[in-house]
Amino acid sequence: MADHNTTFIIHPGGTLQGPVRVPGDKSISHRAVMLGALADGETEVHGFLEGEDSLATLRAFRAMGVEVEGPRDGHLRIRGAGLDGLRAPPGPLDLGNSGTSMRLLAGILAAQPFDSVLQGDASLSRRPMARITHPLARMGARIETAPGGTPPLRIHGGRRLQGIDYVMPVASAQVKSCLLLAGLYAEGRTCVTEPAPTRDHTERMLASFGCEVLREAGRICVAGGGRLRATAIEVPGDISSAAFFMVGAAITPGAEVCLTGVGINPTRTGVVNILRAMGASLDIENERMAGGEPVGDIRVRASRLRGIVIPRDQVPLAIDEFPALFIAAACAEGETVLQGAAELRVKESDRIQVMADGLRALGVDARPTDDGMVIRGGRLGGGCVDSHGDHRIAMAFAMAGLRADGIIEIRDCANVATSFPGFVELARHAGLQINVMQSGKGSCTRPTSGTAMERSPREHSPPVITPPVITIDGPGGSGKGTVSRLLARRLGWHFLDSGALYRLVALAARHHDVALDDAAGLARLARNLDVRFEEDSDLDDVCIYLDGREVTGALREESCGEAASQVAALAPVREALLDRQRTFCRPPGLVADGRDMGTVVFPHAALKIFLTASAGERARRRYKQLKDKGMDVRLDSLLREIEARDARDRGRRHAPLKPAPDAVHIDTTSLTVEDVVARILALWRERSARASVPV
Ligand code: DC
Repeated sequence: MADHNTTFIIHPGGTLQGPVRVPGDKSISHRAVMLGALADGETEVHGFLEGEDSLATLRAFRAMGVEVEGPRDGHLRIRGAGLDGLRAPPGPLDLGNSGTSMRLLAGILAAQPFDSVLQGDASLSRRPMARITHPLARMGARIETAPGGTPPLRIHGGRRLQGIDYVMPVASAQVKSCLLLAGLYAEGRTCVTEPAPTRDHTERMLASFGCEVLREAGRICVAGGGRLRATAIEVPGDISSAAFFMVGAAITPGAEVCLTGVGINPTRTGVVNILRAMGASLDIENERMAGGEPVGDIRVRASRLRGIVIPRDQVPLAIDEFPALFIAAACAEGETVLQGAAELRVKESDRIQVMADGLRALGVDARPTDDGMVIRGGRLGGGCVDSHGDHRIAMAFAMAGLRADGIIEIRDCANVATSFPGFVELARHAGLQINVMQSGKGSCTRPTSGTAMERSPREHSPPVITPPVITIDGPGGSGKGTVSRLLARRLGWHFLDSGALYRLVALAARHHDVALDDAAGLARLARNLDVRFEEDSDLDDVCIYLDGREVTGALREESCGEAASQVAALAPVREALLDRQRTFCRPPGLVADGRDMGTVVFPHAALKIFLTASAGERARRRYKQLKDKGMDVRLDSLLREIEARDARDRGRRHAPLKPAPDAVHIDTTSLTVEDVVARILALWRERSARASVPV
C-alpha cells in the first residue's frame, strides 16, 4: 500500500450553486454488467459509473470470458455469454472494496459448474458474508468463508441449486439480489420476503431483460430455467452521490443547486423524505422514466433545518445516505435521533462510531448508540477528521466545511474515487472550497475531550504535506521576491509570485476599463486571467504575458503596484485568485511569495517565513532598483508611498498582511540576500529532517 494518502482540506466560506450532474448510479451500473454478461445478445449501457467498485465487477466478468467494449465516457457494449456461458476464471476474483460485487457475484457463482474464489481488500475482508452464505447453502450451494463468516469466499462449482422461500432477517438489497440471481439457475421458484422495502434495481432490471419477476406485498419471486434477453440500459445519476450536494445546499445560507437526471426510485428516496421532514426546501422537477427506472431533477435551496426522530421505515431507504444526513442533523435546530440502523456499523467503516468521532472533533454533540445516533445540532467548528478510508464519510465531512467556521482537514480520502469519480472537481466547480493534498499517512490525533477543536489542523499531529510549501510573506521591499526566487532555484522547486497576480488583475482592469472599486468586475477578470509565465534562461528571469502580450515591464511599474494594492483589498478578487495560486503547488515543492501565503493560501505550509525591514531601508532598496532601471524617482516620495501601501495592506479586512502565528520572523535590514537564503535553507533542512520529508 502507498505510504501516502489523500487529505481533503476544506476552507470555510464556500457555497453550492448551479446545475450539478452527478455520475451514474453505482447499484444500477453493477447490475447492468452482471445481467448484460448473463444475457443472450449484446447489451449497450450508457451512463455507466467508472468507479473502482463497478469496474471491479466488470473485471470479474472479463476474467470469466465475457467480452466487453469500454467503458468509454460511460458507454459499454457487453457481448452476453448467456446464463451458462461463463468460464472458470484463471485465479481468485479480486473485488477490491466492493461489497455489492462480492455478494451479488456469490449468488451467480454458486450455480456455476466451476470453482471460484472471491476476495477483497482489508475493509471488504472484514464484512459479514454469512447473511448470503447461509441462505445459499439452503439452496444447495457449498461456500467456505474465513472464520467468522468473512471473505475470502471459496465457492464450489457443480452444485444443483433448489429454489427456496426465504424470509430475510435483516432488510438487505444485496442479500435479496444475491438470492434472486442464484434463483435464475435453481430448480423451481426462489422467493425472498423482505421485512422492509429495500432497493429494487435487480427486480426492475431483471424485468427489462425479459425475466418474469413476481412481486407481491414484500415478497419477490423468480423461476429458474429461463433466459435473459440483451437490452439497452440508461444508468441515471446516483442519488447516493447527489445526497452530498442535497445536504450541502440545504445547510449553506444562500445556496441553491439543481441535481439533474438523478434516479428517484422510491426504494432510494429515503434521503429526500428525511430532508423534507427536517424542513429542507427540496423539489423534484421534470420526472420521467428511463430504462424501467424513474428519473428527475432535484432542486434544493438553503433551508432552516430542524431535528427529528427519523422514521424507522425510512432507514433502509436511506442506508447509504446517513453520513450526509448526520451532517444535516449537526446543522439543524434541536435533536435528531436515529434508531434501527445497526447495519451502519458493518459498512465500509463503522459509520456510527466514525461519524460520531468526526462530529465531536468539530465540536458537535453526537452520541452514538448501538443502532444509531443522537445528534444535537449547533455550531460546527474546524478540526481534523479521520474518514477511516470510507468514501461516504469523507464526502459528508467535505460538505460540513460549508457551515464550519474553521478549516476541516479530512484524512484518508483516496477511496472517494470508488463511488464518486470527479467529486472534488464537481464540488469545487459548484463553489466548495476544497483542496486535495497528498499527505503523510496516519490519523488525526484524537481530541482529549469531546469538545470543539478550536485549533487549526496544524496544532494536532503536524501533517507532512507533499509537495512541501515554504511561504515567504512580508511587506514590499523586505526582499521577499529576490529571496523567494533564489530559494526556489536552490531547491529546484516551483515559485509563486502572488503579487504578480494582483498586479496582473490591476493591469487587466486598465486594459478592459474596469474601475478599481468594481469588485464584481475585477473578480470576473481575476477568474478569467489569460496569463502565461515563461522562463527566459538567457535573462535568468521570467517573462509574463497577459492576453498573449508581454507585460513583464509594465507589471513592475509603481503605478501598477499601487493599483494592485487597491484591487488586493477586495475580498471577491482575493477569492477569485485563491484556486489559481494553489495550483502552483506541484511536486517537488513550492516557494510562495506574498502577503497571505502562510495565513490564507497555504495554511498547511511546512515552513513559514515573515520577512521585515525598516521602512527607510525598504525605500532605499526600491530607489536603487528603479534607478538601475533608469527610472526617475525620489527617495522621500518612495518612502511615503511604501508607508501608505503598508498601511493599506496591513489594515484591510480581508487577508491583511500579517505574520502567521507559526511564522519565523527574519529582519533583513542588515542582512544580505545570501544571508537570508542561507538562514531559510538551514531552517528547512532542520525541519524536514525532523518530519522526515526529503529535501
Ligand atoms: O509583492 P508586490 O509588490 O508585487 O504586490 C503587489 C500588491 O499586491 C501589494 O500591494 C499587496 C498585494 N498583494 C497581496 O495583497 N497579497 C499577496 N499575496 C501578494 C500581493
